[in-house]
Amino acid sequence: MAEGLVEAGGKVHCIDRLAEPDKTFNEAKARFKNENGGGLEYHQVDVSNAEAMEEAIAEIASERQRLDGLVAAAGIQQCTSALDYSAEDIARMLSVNYTGVFLSARACARQMYKYKNQGSMCLVASMSGSIANRGFIAPVYNSSKAAVIQLAKNLAMEWGRVQPDGSGGIRVNCLSPGHIVTPMVEENFRKGEASREEWENNNMLGRLSTPEEYKSAGLFLLSGASSYMTGANLLMDGGTSAW
Ligand SMILES: NC(=O)c1ccc[n+]([C@@H]2O[C@H](COP(=O)([O-])OP(=O)(O)OC[C@H]3O[C@@H](n4cnc5c(N)ncnc54)[C@H](O)[C@@H]3O)[C@@H](O)[C@H]2O)c1
Repeated sequence: MAEGLVEAGGKVHCIDRLAEPDKTFNEAKARFKNENGGGLEYHQVDVSNAEAMEEAIAEIASERQRLDGLVAAAGIQQCTSALDYSAEDIARMLSVNYTGVFLSARACARQMYKYKNQGSMCLVASMSGSIANRGFIAPVYNSSKAAVIQLAKNLAMEWGRVQPDGSGGIRVNCLSPGHIVTPMVEENFRKGEASREEWENNNMLGRLSTPEEYKSAGLFLLSGASSYMTGANLLMDGGTSAW
C-alpha cells in the first residue's frame, strides 16, 4: 500500500517497531528516487507508546505543514486456546491491535485538525473481525479486529464534519483483508497453527492473496476516489465470509 501511494506521488512515512527497516522496505525505497518530493521514509516507533506516536507524527506533519492520510497496519497475533490466555497476553495483544490503532489515528487526527487538511484514514482490520475463522484458534486477535471495525465507525462520526474554521472533515474507514501471504501468515504455517490447504479452500477463489492485491485499496481509501465513503469496512477476502 505504501508503494502504491508513492507511485501516486505521495511522500510516505513508514512506522514500525523494528530498529531497522526490513529488506522489503529497502528494496522498495531503492526503486523510488524521491522524485517530485515523493518517496519512502522509515521511523522506528512503537505504536502502543502514546507519547512517542504523538511526537513522531507531529514531526512528520511539520515537514510539509500537512498530513493527508494514515494506514494503520501494525498488528500482532497469538494463536492460543481461549482457555490458556493469561490476562497479560490479552493486554499485550490489545495494546498493539487496538490501542496502537487508536493512538495512531488520534495522533494523525490532531495534526489534520491543526493543519486543516481534511485527511483520510484506513484502519487495517481483518475479515477475522467479522467471522470466526474455520480451523484457526485466535480469539483475542479476532476480537481485537472487531474492535477496530467499531472504532472506525466512531472516529468517522466524531471527526467527519468540517468545522467553521476549516478543520475536521476527516474520513475514517477500515480495510478487512482475507488471508495474505506475509511473514505473519508464513509463521502460522511454519508453527502448524494453520493449514495452507484449508485456508485456500475456505475462500471462493481457492487461493491466498498477496500484499500487492491491497495496493489499490490503500490508494482508493486515502484519495478523493472514496470522497463520500466513511465509517465503512472494505471487505476483500476472496469471498471467505460470503458463504
Ligand atoms: N496476513 C494476513 O493474512 C492478514 C489478514 C488480515 C489482516 N491482516 C492485518 O494486516 C496488518 C499487517 O499484517 P501482516 O500480515 O503484514 O503482519 P506482519 O507480522 O508481517 O507485519 C506486522 C508489522 O507490524 C509491526 N509491529 C508489531 N507491533 C508493533 C508495534 N507495537 N509498533 C510498531 N510496529 C509494530 C511488526 O514489526 C511488523 O512489521 C495487521 O494489522 C494484520 O492484523 C493480516
